[in-house]
Amino acid sequence: MYKIIDFQISSDGRGDLLSLEQTKNVPFEIKRVYCLTRVNPQFPRGFHAHLNLQQLIVCLAGSCRFVLDDGSDRTEVWLDTANKGLLLKDLVWREMHNFSDDCVLMVLANEFYDEADYIRDYQSFLKICRDQS
Ligand code: TYD
Repeated sequence: MYKIIDFQISSDGRGDLLSLEQTKNVPFEIKRVYCLTRVNPQFPRGFHAHLNLQQLIVCLAGSCRFVLDDGSDRTEVWLDTANKGLLLKDLVWREMHNFSDDCVLMVLANEFYDEADYIRDYQSFLKICRDQS
């Protein structure tokens, strides 16, 4: 349903440096990068799946909780460090909850933004899962 990728971070007295390179520590070609900043802890986000998209999600600051659902099982993953990336590439319903005030999420994606790739209705998501199995 998901994979965690560990990143090597270069840390010294000046701070931390995270380097992401397509097809190296990012397992796809990067067409898009977007960030979630100034999140409101009161409002969860996401609540959708993608038909055909690979994403690598890195929590650059703060923390948040992902709820992931493949139509059969539901699990949760906390992101609270920049040295791990959450890789989502299959048909997975994702929700983001419990944002800390300072949470910054960076998302790398292998496709441009395309609203037609979104499944935003949970019942439709379940039907597509059933149809694919
Ligand atoms: P949305 O997918 O609803 O955010 P989330 O899944 O985090 O709750 O996107 C919010 C708005 O931003 C929506 O109008 C679509 C737009 N958007 C883009 O224009 N480009 C993008 O790459 C993304 C992810 C969203």
